[in-house]
Amino acid sequence: MTLRAEVNERLTRVGPGTPAGKMLRRYWQPIAAASELDDKPVRKVRVLGEDLVLYRDAVGEFGLLAEQCPHRLASLNYGIPEAGGLRCPYHGWLFDRTGQCLEQPNEPENSTFHRRIRTAAYPVQELGGLLFAYLGPGEPPLLPRFDVLVQEGGYRSVGTAVLPCNWLQIMENSVDPVHAEWLHGKYFDYIQHGFGQEALDLFAGRPHHVEIGFDVFEYGIIKRRVLEGGSREDEAWAVGHPLIFPNLLKVGGGGVSEFQYRVPVDDTHTLHIWYTLYEPPGGVPTPQTVVPHFRVPYKDENDEFIVDFIPGQDIMAWVTQGSVTDRTREHLGQTDKGVILFRRLLQEQIQLVERDEDPLGTVRDPDHNVRIDLPLEKDKFLSGEHALKELKGKHARYNPHYDDIVRLFGQTASA
Ligand code: FES
Ligand SMILES: [Fe+2]
Repeated sequence: MTLRAEVNERLTRVGPGTPAGKMLRRYWQPIAAASELDDKPVRKVRVLGEDLVLYRDAVGEFGLLAEQCPHRLASLNYGIPEAGGLRCPYHGWLFDRTGQCLEQPNEPENSTFHRRIRTAAYPVQELGGLLFAYLGPGEPPLLPRFDVLVQEGGYRSVGTAVLPCNWLQIMENSVDPVHAEWLHGKYFDYIQHGFGQEALDLFAGRPHHVEIGFDVFEYGIIKRRVLEGGSREDEAWAVGHPLIFPNLLKVGGGGVSEFQYRVPVDDTHTLHIWYTLYEPPGGVPTPQTVVPHFRVPYKDENDEFIVDFIPGQDIMAWVTQGSVTDRTREHLGQTDKGVILFRRLLQEQIQLVERDEDPLGTVRDPDHNVRIDLPLEKDKFLSGEHALKELKGKHARYNPHYDDIVRLFGQTASA
């Protein structure tokens, strides 16, 4: 079963007016950590193929405007945030966060010209230290208050990387449980043992997937698995964890919960966000005031993928599939049934949006949005050496606060 080229285009392209682009615009998308505006309150962002400028104005309100000033197209990335909006550095036109031009300082005093000038603008909301934007039409739905974002206490961090590939192949990885057995299991063993044949002996000890299952639910797809020696009674099957439609994955296990957002920058680039909540058994002594941001590297100085940590292994696989995977050349097997289900769901939801209906998981009722809990296995309790191994094998190793996180779990980084 392969996809026709036109279906591949339909599912992957994200620009304004494209089928998937219109569907993705019906969801609030995270575009930055709020703390990324701490050093400089104006930042250029590219989202769904649109060049935009994100800013925090002088009274702390966030705005998102088209990058180019409608006067003579200079970049508002160099703009000056004021109490009422963002002022263009070139001739001082001032825009509020709805995109309305408020002032044109050098036009005649009684001119009404500014009233007829408006630039593209999108609403921005902060939640849990992330900034979300709504690029869709009409009345925006509510920004879903998912558990990991609104959970009290704990220690949070935001890691990001811009990856040179289309968003969909990254999301398809989230409905492909079997890859963990190979990419993060056997392949990991192979490289950790110096690419030597002796690693092959270790392969026998890796748990094999005996069953995988997928259920569509209110917010996306719940993934389930039974590993060799286990049963459907195990949380890995009975609870599972979700792909939150269309571009979010929730993962983790006792002590760590993580949202992985895959926000299309354009057709061939994706902003990957690891939003991680650490809840160590003893709690977090000092409440966080700022959720820190850090970059996650994925290539080394020789331009090779960094494959000795789990996210780096995934990134190697996603990027090497091609900038937009050519799905006409695939050969899908039984274990790709999650991928097939997700593609079907995408097709359905794109059609709903074409009929101007709200797609899956749209939240409009405030009573349903106090806190939205999503399933997650809890039996992978992080303690002792296992905690340390887990943290070292993840993006946390690039977190400048890595040692603090390790200490929270009662370990020392040198252990
Ligand atoms: S180009 Fe922005 S004010 Fe002239
Ligand atoms: Fe993976």
